[in-house]
This record gives sequence, structure tokens and C-alpha cells, in this order.
Amino acid sequence: MRVLGIETSCDETGVAIYDTARGLLADALHTQAAMHEAYGGVVPELASRDHVRRVLPLIGDVLARAGLDLWEIDAIAYTQGPGLAGALLVGASVANALGFALGKPTVGVHHLEGHLLSPLLGDPAPSFPFVALLVSGGHTQLIEVEGVGRYRLLGDTLDDAAGEAFDKTAKLLGLPYPGGPALAALAERGHPGAISLPRPMLDSGDLDFSFSGLKTAVALRARAAGVDGRPGALPEGVRADIARAFEEAVVDVLVAKSIAALGATGRSTLVVAGGVGANRRLRERLTADVARRGGRVHFPELRYCTDNGAMIALAGALRLAEGTTSYAFSVRPRWELRTLAAA
Ligand code: KG4
Ligand code: ZN
Repeated sequence: MRVLGIETSCDETGVAIYDTARGLLADALHTQAAMHEAYGGVVPELASRDHVRRVLPLIGDVLARAGLDLWEIDAIAYTQGPGLAGALLVGASVANALGFALGKPTVGVHHLEGHLLSPLLGDPAPSFPFVALLVSGGHTQLIEVEGVGRYRLLGDTLDDAAGEAFDKTAKLLGLPYPGGPALAALAERGHPGAISLPRPMLDSGDLDFSFSGLKTAVALRARAAGVDGRPGALPEGVRADIARAFEEAVVDVLVAKSIAALGATGRSTLVVAGGVGANRRLRERLTADVARRGGRVHFPELRYCTDNGAMIALAGALRLAEGTTSYAFSVRPRWELRTLAAA
């Protein structure tokens, strides 16, 4: 079965074709990062309009690359939520219009389920069960994954998500949007240990996170370092040391809690999903520390860590295999993962 996947929940238009027998046939992505950069964050109306412009050409693109005609697609999966309402509606409308026109089923996919299952695109793919560390711009969660639709939330952030903390701290340091990769690049030039920052919730005894205090600690450190309370005006070296300290603090907490989650569930496989999973220091530390305790870590390829159409096509294929289909133009901008059940 060939599934066309469409992702339009935020600022990336992602389209892919996943074949249940042959794997991923083609995927294409347009990122709006440059368009939103001038505003320091995603402007929802601009995002929706850009999805309208991009989605049909991208569908044409993946079909051409897979050597398929539109009617050779067996089903269409699209991100139904959570995300920006207007942006979600673009993908939902195109997917359902195609579904009606072609007489093919459509399935609305939960964006986070897409991230959770994205490591299955890898080779070798992890097998169930595993613990997933979901670290995106909107979420920081540890989830025990026993199978498709069988997710148990182990820990969550009490305030900012890790990616959000990266983005806000980057903004504070005068870095361009999206902040995560920019901050990580700046941190490479910082000296380890030059500045110390707290490790929030490290010893909380549970698997929850909190990152907003860390952002405040950075603001205070930066202010103490001078320049009229404008951290963006600090010398490059100081900003790099702050970035390094911030990144190490976040990574320390994510690694410690992930290992605690493996211990608490008795699982040996950790999979990492979501945009912050692209962070090099996090990948290195997790790989080393989980291996030390006899486990293994799976990372999606970098391009499948951030938003993409491939994970939606894959999750849609797995859902369709269980009999889930839905012709629905409704989108779910707010949608709790825990309300998902196996079909
Ligand atoms: O999963 P994602 O593409 O979008 C959703 O939030 O669903 O994640 C985006 C987040 C942003 O906060 C971005 O700054 C962060 O992932 N990110 C990174 C890196 N690359 C992307 N954070 C730290 N280091 C990176 N290399
Ligand atoms: Zn995402």
C-alpha cells in the first residue's frame, strides 16, 4: 500500500510517499524558517498562506521522484493536529479533497505520534517496546511505547519545552530564529565550565522537566555580564560560554531523565524524536551514557527529527493497517497524545 503523507502543522510543508512493502519512496520538504525569521517566530497567517503555495507542487514533486501517478496512491495521511489551526487546515483540505476525488481513504495523524514512530523509518528500525524521548519545540515528554497507539506518558515538562527553551534563550542572546540550531552552533565556540547554570528538576525524583527557570538564569547571567541588560550586545566569547552552559544543562537533564525512564520501565531501547533530537551534544551524550548501562539509542536521521512528511506517511500507514480511516475536515489544534488509543 502506498500512502501519501502531508505535514502542515507549523512552519514546514512536508510531503512523502511511504510504501508498506518497500519503505519510503520519496519525500520533499519546504521550510518557512527564512520567511518567519524577520518576525522572530512563526506568524500563523503567513504560515498558512505559504502552505497553500507549496503543498501541491511538493505533491507533484514526490510523485515524479517516486515515478508514480496520482491514482497509484492508495491512501492519504495528513497531520490533523496539534498545531496551528489555519496551517493544519491546508493539509487537511488538500488530503481530503484528493481522497474524495480519487476515491481513496484518508487518515488524520497525530503530529506527535508521527514523531514517536519516525525512528521506524531508520535502518535498523527499533522494535517495540521502547522508551521515547520526545523533544520538540512544543513538547518534552518521556513516553513508554508498547506498539502503535499504546503510549504511556512517563514524564512531561511543567513549563517550557526543551526546544522552546532553546529558542527563547537564543533570542535572548540575539541569535536568529529558529534558535535551537543557532544556539548549538554558538555553543561549539564556548568553553565548557566557564559559566555554571542550574540543572532544573535533576533530583526531583520523577521524570518531569522544567526549563523556564534555566532561561531566567541565562537572562540573569547575561545581565550580570553587563551591557545595559542587553545580552545580545555581549561580546561573542561570553555569549558562546553562556550558550555552552545552557546546552550542557539541558542535555544533562534530558540524559539523566531518559536513563531514569529506562530504569523505571525496565526497557533497554531509547528512541529520540523531535527537533531537539538533532542536537549533536545530546546525541553524543545519550549514545555514550545509554550504552554504558547496556542499552541502545535510536535516532531518526537528522531530516526526520524535525517536522517532515515521511513520519506522517509512515504513521498513517500503520494506522490504516489497523483499520483507522477518517474523512474529516476537522483539525485538532489542541490534541492530547494520551487521548489516542490503539484502533
Ligand atoms: O520537532 P520540531 O521540528 O517542531 C515541533 O516543535 O514540532 O522541533 C523544532 C524545535 C525548535 O525549538 C528548534 O529550535 C529545535 O527543535 N532544534 C534544535 C536543534 N535543531 C532544531 N534544538 C537544539 N539543537 C539543535 N541542533
Ligand atoms: Zn514536530
